[in-house]
Amino acid sequence: MDAKLLLLFASSAVLALSSGVSVLSTNAPDVVTSDTSDNVVTPAYYDGIDLNTLSDDELDALVDAKDEILEGELDIAGYINAVANKRRLHKRWIPLARAAFSIGRSLLRSFSRGRVTRSGSRLTRQYNRQGNYGDAVRDFNRLNPSGARPISGRNNLQGITGTMGRHRVTVRNTSSNGRPTLEIRSPNANGGSTVRKFRYNE
Ligand SMILES: *[C@@H]1O[C@H](CO)[C@@H](O)[C@H](O)[C@H]1NC(C)=O
Repeated sequence: MDAKLLLLFASSAVLALSSGVSVLSTNAPDVVTSDTSDNVVTPAYYDGIDLNTLSDDELDALVDAKDEILEGELDIAGYINAVANKRRLHKRWIPLARAAFSIGRSLLRSFSRGRVTRSGSRLTRQYNRQGNYGDAVRDFNRLNPSGARPISGRNNLQGITGTMGRHRVTVRNTSSNGRPTLEIRSPNANGGSTVRKFRYNE
């Protein structure tokens, strides 16, 4: 083989080798990095959606969609709870009809919606309106939760808790921010939960 040609072969072999080495050496730290921190975050599934992949605006939009579902579910659970102990002999009887299937809608529409906060796979939203504990108890009674029973707690907390289908509804005369609060806790069928805190402000 001619010496010039040999040199050409040798130098291209070195080139190939060094580029191979450089690929390996940039790959290695990547693998280490992805094992250690933000590339590997435990998924936080909320109804099958990994909440880690959503922006704040998207979390807000997700709870908006969930609020629509809650309204409908409260409408239906409210109707079921209201007729549970009444005998209906004829489908045309019912002074109840006018208010039927609207309890969830009227509750949510009487409040302004706040931002959503997240803790793992639990989303919490605050809602606000003017009112006092009497208003909160009136809203609780309108929902007519089943199995309602009084509760008490620290700092002279007093309240009532019951259920509307899979939603737990609790009214308290004081809360973490000191205001009377109607709270609805809703576990999802497919991971995560929603907590809604309806505040009655002065
Ligand atoms: C809540 O109700 C209890 C019992 O009536 C009362 O002692 C307490 O002061 C009330 N708390 C607030 C913040 O109104």
